[in-house]
This record gives sequence, structure tokens and C-alpha cells, in this order.
Amino acid sequence: MRNIELKAHDRDPARTLELALALGAADEGDIVQRDTYFAAGRGRLKLREETRSARLGGATAELIAYRRPDGERPRVSEYERAPVADAGATLAALEAAHGTLVTVRKRRRLLLWEGVRIHLDDVDGLGTFLELEAVAPERSDLSAEREKVARLRAALEVDDAALVASSYSDLLLDGPEALLAAAQAAMAHAHVPYSRFPVGAALRSASGSVHVGANVENAAYPESQCAEASAIAALVSAGETRIAAIAVVARRREVCPPCGGCRQRLAELAPPETPVHLGRPGGPASAITTVTLGELLPMAFGREELEP
Ligand code: THU
Repeated sequence: MRNIELKAHDRDPARTLELALALGAADEGDIVQRDTYFAAGRGRLKLREETRSARLGGATAELIAYRRPDGERPRVSEYERAPVADAGATLAALEAAHGTLVTVRKRRRLLLWEGVRIHLDDVDGLGTFLELEAVAPERSDLSAEREKVARLRAALEVDDAALVASSYSDLLLDGPEALLAAAQAAMAHAHVPYSRFPVGAALRSASGSVHVGANVENAAYPESQCAEASAIAALVSAGETRIAAIAVVARRREVCPPCGGCRQRLAELAPPETPVHLGRPGGPASAITTVTLGELLPMAFGREELEP
């Protein structure tokens, strides 16, 4: 299935609700949702549990796998949905097999207007947002869906400055905590009999998946591999091509800056503005340092230098 989506910060949800109702949108009431994101190999995989009024289905759960390019403009999303009968058991199995990346909790007011879903979302830890979702019939060329989203956007007075490019999960994941926690979990598996210096790295790909790595040493010392290199190999092996956020932890250092070689490796797949989180999860926020890859590797040598 595909849809056209738009997301924006909404400073005044009460007014947006009024505008939507004035347009004739049908009010479907409140839904409480909990989305648990797992460390999927490709794209994103989440278990959605939701509770709404009995008329609209009561408590339900479904697994949703999806991919979509990040971007502010209305964008196309491809997804698959599978109904889930036992949410608790499914959560436990996926948690055991893949691990949980992040949980997104929100209260959503759902309205429907000419086939477009209007979401007034209050997301724990992030604030209030407006989402528009036009679900496309199979053979649609998407032009009707784009046009409806544009009309609704104008009517609900969404200006450019309010647009949000990332998903809720990425807004939470790109914060240092979730990515550093993934790096720390990988660090526990470091193979470091020579240096006894375990390092873990976590990379979020541009399509939303998270890939981790630990350092792997070798009795022939130069054959050893840094944690960042392991994580890059995992990301590329899963079919991803771009890095959107980076975290590195080391057991014996409060902050472990990536070595020079790894800065170069990361720069192959990550643009200079990519955030690099250094520190430990769960500690005081002041102990976490966030820099950009461009700050760590100024005047980088890249593929442009190879061009004639
Ligand atoms: N190490 C990393 O994994 N990443 C870095 O950016 C710095 C160094 C590893 C390599 C080696 O296994 C150990 O830390 C000590 O140098």
C-alpha cells in the first residue's frame, strides 16, 4: 500500500481541530497508540497497539513494516500491515529476536476528510503535531492524493517553517539516548582480548533502520577492526546506503572520539551535518557530547576529489 503524507509541528491543536471541523471533516475521536520499533534488517518494523472507542474497534494490534525516504514535502510511503492477535507474545518474541529500538507513545485525534486522514497527535517527549495521510488506491498515479493534501494543508494553515521531515521514531532515535543505548548493547559483545578496550557503535540509516557493531581484534594486531567499521559493514550488508546519525561508546572512556580512520569511513556514507553522539546512555545529559561529522573531519577527502 502507498500513501502521501505530510507532518508539521502544531502549536495550536485546538485551532487546527476547529479548522478541520469547519471544512466538514468527520471526527473519529481519540486513539491511544503505542508503537514499538524493532531493530529490523531493512527499513522500519513496528508493533502498533491501539485503544479507541468500542465503536471504532476497541483494542487492536498490528505489525507494520515500511520504508520511506525522509523528506519534508508530502512523500510516498510503502508499507505492509499484518493484524496481530496476541500483542504481548508478539512483542516478547520480536524483542527477544531483534531488540527494541524505541517506543513512541501518543494520543491521536483522528479526523477524516475526503479520504484523507487528519491526525492531531500529542507525542510523549516530542509535543503536538499535525499529520495528513492520503491513502492511495492501487492504480493511482498519486496526483489526486497530492492535490488533496495540498488543499488541506492550505486550509489548515500549515506554513513551511512548521514542516517536519522525520518520523516520530527518528526524532526520538536521533536523540543521543536511544542510539547510544544501541551502541552500548553492541559493545557488550566486543572481542578485545588484546586491548581490553571495548567499543560499540550504532548507525541509523536514512531509511530508519539501526545497525550496530563492536570492535573485533585479532592476534595479528593490524587485522583488528574498529566498532564503527563493523557497524558500517552491517548497514551496507542490510542494503542501506546512507547514514543519518551516529553514536559511539567505550567502556573505559566517558567519551570515545572515533579514530581518524573511522571518521574517513563514516564520511563515505554520511554527510558532514550528520550528528555524532559520544558519551553513555542513562547518564546526565551534560556528559553526552554531540558533534557533527564535519566537525570531526573538516576538509574531508571524498569522491568529488576523484572527479577529473
Ligand atoms: N577502537 C574502535 O573500535 N573505535 C575507535 O574509534 C577507536 C578505537 C578500538 C580499536 C581497538 O580494538 C581498541 O579500540 C583499542 O584501540
